[in-house]
Amino acid sequence: QEAPNADLAELIRTIPDHPKPGIVFRDISTLMLDGGAFAATIDRMADALARANGGDPPELIAGIEARGFVFASALAYRLGAGVLMMRKRGRLPGPSVSIEYALEYGTDMLEMHDDACGPGASVVLVDDLIATGGTALAAVELLEGRGAHVRQALFVIDLPELGGAQRLRDAGVAVHSLIGFD
Ligand code: PRP
Ligand code: HPA
Repeated sequence: QEAPNADLAELIRTIPDHPKPGIVFRDISTLMLDGGAFAATIDRMADALARANGGDPPELIAGIEARGFVFASALAYRLGAGVLMMRKRGRLPGPSVSIEYALEYGTDMLEMHDDACGPGASVVLVDDLIATGGTALAAVELLEGRGAHVRQALFVIDLPELGGAQRLRDAGVAVHSLIGFD
């Protein structure tokens, strides 16, 4: 039996030893260049959410800078939801909340405007890929710190061996991904 979304998986380029020796980098930019595949990716993300939510769309899609923005904005347009930007250090103009987190390769900081969502807002988190889960967990912590209810997290790619999706589930977030790479 063929893996689900094998047609999309074959468009993702693999770059060994980027950005460091030993990291097998899954490069989604090659899928994004294909218009039909990009549209299919967004449609399948929307389908995964609809199955999980019984068709009740979220108020906001929170996308993680930078590659997450591409998928978050297209999905938000399709669902009629707003876009909440989770940005890297020092880029937001208004009063913000921030959190430092560990990456598979280094550390970074994620920020959001402190008035971007009201208490109880229903939010779906979107990124291109989950690896260790450090970035997504930081995003959930920021969002829930502002009172949001993060109902689901949605990724194009999961690297299950790195354990991020499991960590997110352990934190009480329902996780969906289209493609898994060992
Ligand atoms: C990548 C990816 C996720 C994160 C996943 O982004 O887009 O956001 O790493 O890793 P984790 O699950 O181990 O936290 P990156 O930080 O490379 O930023 P970019 O999208 O700006 O290139
Ligand atoms: N590809 C893209 N982004 C990433 C990866 C990867 O393999 N690992 C951690 N962030």
